[in-house]
Amino acid sequence: MTEFVVRRLLVDMEQPIPRHWCGGDAFRTAFMNALSMSFPVGEQFFIDALREGLKALPAPEQARFEAEVRSFIGQEATHRRLHGLYNEHLERQGLVNEWGPRALRRRQLLDGLDVRHAVAATAAYEHFTAILADWMLRRPEILGDQDPRLATLWLWHASEESEHKSTAFDLYRALGGNEAWRLKWFRRVSFFFVADALRQTLNNLRRDGTLWRWRTWSSAARFLFGRGGLVRETLPAWRAYKRPDFHPSQQDAQAATDWIARHGDRFQVVPRPAP
Ligand SMILES: [Fe+2]
Ligand SMILES: [Fe+2]
Repeated sequence: MTEFVVRRLLVDMEQPIPRHWCGGDAFRTAFMNALSMSFPVGEQFFIDALREGLKALPAPEQARFEAEVRSFIGQEATHRRLHGLYNEHLERQGLVNEWGPRALRRRQLLDGLDVRHAVAATAAYEHFTAILADWMLRRPEILGDQDPRLATLWLWHASEESEHKSTAFDLYRALGGNEAWRLKWFRRVSFFFVADALRQTLNNLRRDGTLWRWRTWSSAARFLFGRGGLVRETLPAWRAYKRPDFHPSQQDAQAATDWIARHGDRFQVVPRPAP
């Protein structure tokens, strides 16, 4: 099992967030803010899916996964708490989170179904967060220097996503989840993730008054499709999930390991509870 710890991030989330905190760029800010808006509901869904998935395992397998799932839950719970504080600032700026409530309604459709559906959906979302995380850790300059506190928050979150990227996938396999469902959930999650991220980004830009500016869309084109851009760079890693022999550990995690090793002053490791 993979070993990882829970870290308490040493950032002050009391101070307001600058309107275009991400490098002074309206599109990048709206996109990153949209992702942040998805986390409180999304990460609670991942936590619940893995907690229920763990319970559904036979006893010896449960013992094998218990510590790892506990660490996963600890990390995701810390992320969702900090993104909740971040999102409160966005609300004060007049932005409206429509992604969260939509995701909440959608997750209710899984109530009462075999837990492997929720675990497969979590594994697929975790693939998205892991490839986004690796991309961001390799290009921290996209976060700009207007708000070093938010840059730290994103890179810490990204590092931990990279660290626990195999947990949901391994649990799905241990639960006897099949390939057909794994791929079906990957296709669904890919559609919903892209559609939701786009809708919330457009919503944020509209409320920010920057939706119809030429500069917004020239930046979007560079950010998504330019050299080193998000879509262009992450497409091969996204596609890899469809291979029958895919495992999240095949994807490089060096950028995350390096960030954690170099930024020990930005967090405190939470002591593990006694077994
Ligand atoms: Fe997270
Ligand atoms: Fe995660």
